[in-house]
Amino acid sequence: MGKIHNIAVIAGDGIGPDVIAEGIKVLELVAKLDGNMDFSFTHFPWNCDYYHEHGVMMPDDGIAQLSKFDAILLGAIGHPTVPDHVSLWELVLKIRKAFDQYVNLRPVKLLKGAPCPLSGINNEDIDMIYIRENSEGEYAGEGAWLFKDKPEEVVLQHAVFSRKGCERIIRYAFELAEELNMSVTSVSKGNALNYSMVFWDKIFKEVSNEYPEIPTYSYLVDAASMFMIKDPKRFEVVVTSNLFGDILTDLGAAIAGGMGLSAGANINPEREFPSMFEPIHGSAPDIAGKNIANPLATVWAVSQMLDYFSYYEWGKLLLDAIEDVLTDKENLTPDLGGTATTNKAGDAVRASIEKLFKSKT
Ligand code: NAI
Ligand code: MG
Repeated sequence: MGKIHNIAVIAGDGIGPDVIAEGIKVLELVAKLDGNMDFSFTHFPWNCDYYHEHGVMMPDDGIAQLSKFDAILLGAIGHPTVPDHVSLWELVLKIRKAFDQYVNLRPVKLLKGAPCPLSGINNEDIDMIYIRENSEGEYAGEGAWLFKDKPEEVVLQHAVFSRKGCERIIRYAFELAEELNMSVTSVSKGNALNYSMVFWDKIFKEVSNEYPEIPTYSYLVDAASMFMIKDPKRFEVVVTSNLFGDILTDLGAAIAGGMGLSAGANINPEREFPSMFEPIHGSAPDIAGKNIANPLATVWAVSQMLDYFSYYEWGKLLLDAIEDVLTDKENLTPDLGGTATTNKAGDAVRASIEKLFKSKT
């Protein structure tokens, strides 16, 4: 048996339940092989069907219910019949904010065997960790809609950058870089955003002074997006705002194997509240119900969860298993050029996990 980790599962919509099922099977296998840990899963049916039935994405006490868990595993939320800003704000963003998951940690790493649209690239060239601010910035949800539906209609969308918010995310990036012996790159836009990003740059400078031994770089977001394509190896730990991080990590997903391979962790570093782990893709309505969604992003999210619980060897072994499946190529889903179903790809990952584990012991 061993230590039990209580996981809240929100499988969500579309392909969410399919990929989450594979993630859970992986965790169950890891627990069985390890013998000193276990997972208990509690499923929450909060998704767009729930919204149609109840008029809300989660019940009033939803956050209180989730607060009792050690971590949350999220599939994907969204359905064409519910406006995306409703499904996103009332569930995913509500959880991120209520649990102060201010770090969005997204590895952008080109695993062996993963497709890359860039030419002349070695796997080691794309190996970065994005630290995206996840609690404020451009996604603070502040603003106003004046004279709605009138000819003089005006909208205001405020970005919110607090000293506390900027310092803590930038410091997190430096702490991680120190641990991994990496550089830190800040991505901002101080030339055009003359309040928010000038402030961000100032705080980046202040915090970097506390870590004189760590190399730092600072790019404007437009230049950063160009360098991500032209010279990705210059990036190691990257820290940036909520909006820029959202966009650049999708670019990162595109150069590191695609949406079916990209995961993200929403972390409350103080561990006062549960952290949440998810594939970064959405509910993919175009392939929902076809059993062809790639489960590897979810397996990566599960690997991040194992790291979070300090099972670093397992976290690493899961990435090795994903690499195994990618290089073997026999069990890839159609997004990666194969013909395998979601289940078949999941089976292959688990077979590889068992093989790798046995070869170690
Ligand atoms: P999406 O990520 O769902 O799909 C984009 C494209 O990538 C589609 O062609 C899809 O088939 C493909 N794709 C995504 N994940 C895949 C996987 N695991 N395997 C194979 N192919 C995959 O993004 P889209 O279409 O913009 O959004 C669909 C819905 O998902 C919307 O309602 C959106 O709001 C929601 N969404 C939810 C997110 C979340 O829950 N965190 C994140 C992003 C979008
Ligand atoms: Mg996104």
